[in-house]
Amino acid sequence: MKNLKERILELKKEKNAVILAHYYQEADIQDIADYVGDSLGLSQEAMKVDADIILFAGVHFMAETAKILNPTKKVILPDLKAGCSLAESCPPDLFKQFIDQHPDHIVITYVNCSAEIKALSDIVCTSSNAVKIVESVLKDRPIIFAPDKNLGKYIIEKTGREMLLWDGSCVVHEAFSLDKLIEVHKLHPDATIIAHPESETHILKTASYIGSTAGMIEYVKTNSNNKFIVATEAGILHKMQQEVPEKILIPAPAKDDNTCACSECAYMKMNSLQKVYDCLLNETPEIVVPENIRKKALLPIERMLELSK
Ligand code: 13P
Ligand code: SF4
Repeated sequence: MKNLKERILELKKEKNAVILAHYYQEADIQDIADYVGDSLGLSQEAMKVDADIILFAGVHFMAETAKILNPTKKVILPDLKAGCSLAESCPPDLFKQFIDQHPDHIVITYVNCSAEIKALSDIVCTSSNAVKIVESVLKDRPIIFAPDKNLGKYIIEKTGREMLLWDGSCVVHEAFSLDKLIEVHKLHPDATIIAHPESETHILKTASYIGSTAGMIEYVKTNSNNKFIVATEAGILHKMQQEVPEKILIPAPAKDDNTCACSECAYMKMNSLQKVYDCLLNETPEIVVPENIRKKALLPIERMLELSK
């Protein structure tokens, strides 16, 4: 009797599908994926896919971005409810009103937003290229940055640029506790703190390295230290530990978490191996983006990809 992983791999071949997974997916899903990466890497990979079906093991905005970039492929997501607190914080009608109040501003949006919001944007960015994208804008041009205020504050600090920030945040990265982090660091004073820029400023101030999930993995691989406290979603520890089996990785502690020492994204964890199997078998739920929105949303993503070369 074949196990679920073997059946998924068989079905994937039969259906000429590829599985793209984010680092926050559960370990079993990462293990059967053709590619595991951060938001930028996943977009670049999705664009290149030649197979008939892209099964996106991630959240809705990621699968939607894949569809925008590679519209002739069938893009399926194991659970349509796999959303994102950042994307949900930014409804298109309110965002349109905000933009209309500041017509002279260039609109830069973090990729964690809906296709409708991307369609209202001038340039999209991810956590791995946000600083570069903001720096590419002419100095005298005012900027709106949405939806992540924490990433926005970090970019303002790094670039010295003034930006109007949308009031959105990631529920997972806002759950880290500074007091508990300091306690853990006292127990492991030789550990280097690394953090994702969706974290709050007081957490970022403690970090020796700040970057995207892919950037954090690269840092741990190339840094000579052997111990790290990792302030991002705990799913990253699977691939990170595979890359540095000899190093000690400690998840940064969350505020009100008595059961688990780490932070998990409930949206990312809606996908399961069983749902991946069912999704491939039935080729549903499918991601559909209306063509008029897709065309408008494509332009700011293409600008980002061009600037990321
Ligand atoms: P990256 O993997 O691009 O750093 O994004 C992190 C994240 O929170 C995705 O939802
Ligand atoms: Fe959204 Fe945060 Fe979950 Fe990423 S970790 S999908 S930003 S809620």
